[in-house]
Order: sequence, then C-alpha cells, then structure tokens
Amino acid sequence: MTALTASTAPTSIAFTGRSPMEQRYHTLLQGRPGEGLEWLQEQLQLADALPDDLPGDPAQLGPWSSYRAGEVARCYAAYLEGRKAGASRRYFSNRAHALYFLQHVAPTKAVDGAWLAGTLRHWPDPRFHGLIRTYLEELGDGDPACNHVLIFQRLLSELGCHEQLPLGADRYLQGCVQLALGLNTEALLPEVIGYNLGYEQPPLHLLITAFELDELGIDPQYFRLHVTIDNASSGHACKALHALQHVWPEHGSTAFYQRVSRGYRLNDLGPGALAIIDSFDLEAELLAALERKRSFGQHMHSDYCRFEGKTVNQWLAETNLLSGFLAVLQRKGWIKRHQDPAHSRFWQLIDGPAAAMFGVFSPYEKQLLQDWIAGNWKPAAGQRHALLVKAEPLHDEAQGQALEAVLQTLPPEARVDLLIEEMAGNRHALPRGLWATRRFARMTGLNR
Ligand SMILES: [Fe+2]
Ligand SMILES: [Fe+2]
Repeated sequence: MTALTASTAPTSIAFTGRSPMEQRYHTLLQGRPGEGLEWLQEQLQLADALPDDLPGDPAQLGPWSSYRAGEVARCYAAYLEGRKAGASRRYFSNRAHALYFLQHVAPTKAVDGAWLAGTLRHWPDPRFHGLIRTYLEELGDGDPACNHVLIFQRLLSELGCHEQLPLGADRYLQGCVQLALGLNTEALLPEVIGYNLGYEQPPLHLLITAFELDELGIDPQYFRLHVTIDNASSGHACKALHALQHVWPEHGSTAFYQRVSRGYRLNDLGPGALAIIDSFDLEAELLAALERKRSFGQHMHSDYCRFEGKTVNQWLAETNLLSGFLAVLQRKGWIKRHQDPAHSRFWQLIDGPAAAMFGVFSPYEKQLLQDWIAGNWKPAAGQRHALLVKAEPLHDEAQGQALEAVLQTLPPEARVDLLIEEMAGNRHALPRGLWATRRFARMTGLNR
C-alpha cells in the first residue's frame, strides 16, 4: 500500500449524490475569507421578504430582549404545568423521532458559532471583544469537554448516529448561511451582528427539546447548555445587544439598523426546529431505512423461508414490495405491533449480540423499527437509557507542539493569523484546532 504524502493526498473527495446546497456547505467548510459572498447576498434578498419582530426604535432592543425572555419562561412554565397534569410530549412522539430531529439539525449544529468566526481578526479592537468571547465560548475556549460542536458530535456518536443520513438540501441551508457570514464579516458586519442577535435569543423550543430528550433517555446537555449560556441577562443574548451598541455608527444609523434587521431575518430562512420536528413520519422513515438496506440484503437470504409464496430475496427485489413485506410479516405473526417489541420474532432476529441479523441495522434504523412495532405500547416507567458521563482529557498536546514549532518560524503578526485559520469552519473541534483556540485566547489576552 502506498502511503499518501502531502503532495499526493487529495485535498477533497468528490462525493456523488450531494445536492448543490450540500456541496456548497462542504466548500464553505474549507472556505477562505470572501467565499460565498454572492450567494449570501441572494439569501439576504430572500430574507427581505420575511417579516421580523424587531422594534422599530433600536433604543427598545433591551426591553424587547427582556420581554422575549419573559415570554419564553412563561410558556415553558405552562408547558411543564400541562405535562404535570398528564399532557403527552409536545415534540417527540418516540425516541426514533428525537433521533430523526438530532440528525436533521446536525449540519447546523456541526458549525455552531461559525457566523462569528470573522470577528477574530478584530481582536485588537475592544468593541469586538464581546463577540469574540461569544465565539470562544462556542468553541469551549479550546476545552473538548465544552466545545459545542464536539458536544453535539459526541451526542450523535453515543447514540450511534455519527454516520450522516442522506438529508434534503434545505437541511444544509442554515449551516451555509452561518459559514458564509463567518467568511464575509468585513463586507457584512451589520448583517453578522443582526444574525447573532437573532440566533442568541434563547427560544422556547430549546427548553422543551432538552426536557423531552431527557425524558427519552437522551443526554440533553447540548440543549441545556444553550439555555444557560445564551441567557438574556448576562449571556450571549446580552453580549449580542452590547456588540450592536459598540459598533453603532454616528452617521447613517437608519441604514445600519436596516442591515442589522436583514441579518436578523436570515435566521428564518429554511425550515426551523419545529418544521423539522413536524416533518417526521415514522413509517415513511422506516421504509426509507429499509430501502437503503434493500440492495445489500436482496441476495443475502437463503430461499428456505417463504412468506405467502415469495422468498425473502424476492420480497427485497423491488422497492414497492417493502411495505407489503412488513404487512406479511404482521399477518404471519413475525411482527406483533402495539406490543413489547421483544415479543416479535422479527425483532428477535435483529436485536442482541446473538441475533441472526446482529449488526445489519444501525442504531437509528433499529430505533425506527422498534418504535414502529411498539406503536401504542409504552414501556413501564423507569425503563430508561443510561446516560453517559463525559469528561474528556485534553489530548492534543502533540498536535499543539507541532503547531507551536510552525508558529515560531513566523513573524509575530502572522502567528495570530495562522491560529485564526485553525479555528475556522469547524476545524476548531479537531485536536489541532482546540489547541489553537487556547493559544489564540492566551496570545490575545481574551481568555476567560
Ligand atoms: Fe452554541
Ligand atoms: Fe450562544
């Protein structure tokens, strides 16, 4: 086997089947400053057509933010009250539904904070320190236990959902917006500040999501942490307002505020959290998952077992037979819906290390099947999934030493630039990027 050297290693791999939006997302992840400006201008024009709830008078932004925070608290209290009185979950019908949501928001969560990446270059200017501190906090100040992107990636890995599902183009839209804003801060500073103002106001869905994930035995740390860190009294929501005050221009403030509003409205492009939650259809997702497996499984079964005259291989031979196959499995008693899935022979073939089809289905695919079989059946209270405790040691010193050696060969003014490059896109979540984040914070005096 030939080892790839720096000169022979491919810089990118062309994946087939990616939508143009997904392709753009991956290009922006590798992007250099200025990348995606034209596309972002088009998105801003689309955002112009959307309404917004910003006060007409910018002097009212403080009360507006406090009012929003109060409304969220009030609605959440009402939600909890309802749940206590016996109301069912508002968002997630079952665990598969929650896993669907997490995977569909992953392209956005995987670049959490990216819209602020371009503020790093303003580190000598104290007016930007609030925004830079917000960005550094998104990056966990280089601590892998606190880096938001890593926390989300760890969550998906713990759930066995680290392999990206094929997702519609619209799921990449907000990630593209965030990356492009971070790469075009010089041209679009008011828009970046407006977007930040919108993104950092903690919404009600964050609180409900955290509550319901916990209920389903899924670690809610990522969502809970945003409830606290984005708070309106001293957190990112408050810093977002201060940033706006710091760069408020002496002249042309009307045009400036209009640009801030355009950036704010960018938050509403594409499907939001609630639309993604509403788009879940358990049976459709299950059939899509089985379809992904079909081409691999259609020649793998022996012809010994027949269902209503057809072998398993024949049932798997065509797309449109899959729902019929599930129906026949029910008629033959291999699947007993609305009961404990453990009673279904088909489930026994899939679940557990000794099962005949062990390892065929991913944890998400298994969860879809399990929840579809369970239907109305609910497990007894107390059957919860164990939460994993996460505490990750810093393990990036070797990478750091290599980067330090490179830094020492550079003139002082170029050193910060190299560190900033290592913190772009979501490279900051890699060992080298984590080290660079800590080094940047020390070098600029912007550490906690
Ligand atoms: Fe975050
Ligand atoms: Fe934040």
